[in-house]
Amino acid sequence: MRKITALIFGASLLLLTTGCEKTEEQKEEVVTYKYTTAEVYDQMCVKCHGKNGEGVLEKKGPALNDQSYQELRMGIMDIKMGGTSGHSAGTEHEVMEHNMKKIREKGMDYDTEAMAQYIVDKFQK
Ligand code: HEC
Repeated sequence: MRKITALIFGASLLLLTTGCEKTEEQKEEVVTYKYTTAEVYDQMCVKCHGKNGEGVLEKKGPALNDQSYQELRMGIMDIKMGGTSGHSAGTEHEVMEHNMKKIREKGMDYDTEAMAQYIVDKFQK
């Protein structure tokens, strides 16, 4: 009986310590975004993709309101990863990749899925 108690105690200690280490690691991995997806869209994306995701001709920003959630998600993923996600040829979003760098520098990074969802929910009815 005593042996079992000791074992359980040992195991929970281990869990506790690994639990702590995990939070340390997660600090680097889990990104917390300073702005909401809506704020990022309204302050950044809107300039080139329009208030309703209809696109802005002068800025050459294509319409985003005619794309499916999946298309948007893949597009944004590619843009954020510099075409290395393997979903497209890689150079397809050169302009937007450059824009994304600028957007990041301004602290206006965002979650890929959340942005795709936002565009679908807001502009596609
Ligand atoms: C300075 C102008 C500009 C800003 C700001 C901008 N974009 Fe773009 N975006 C473009 C242009 C130009 C393209 C088309 C060329 C390309 O994909 O590189 C594009 C392409 C895209 C595409 C791919 C569309 C497709 O048809 O494949 C997505 C998705 C996208 N932008 C999302 C966003 C989001 C989300 C934001 C805000 C965080 C944003 N863009 C901000 C100019 C801009």
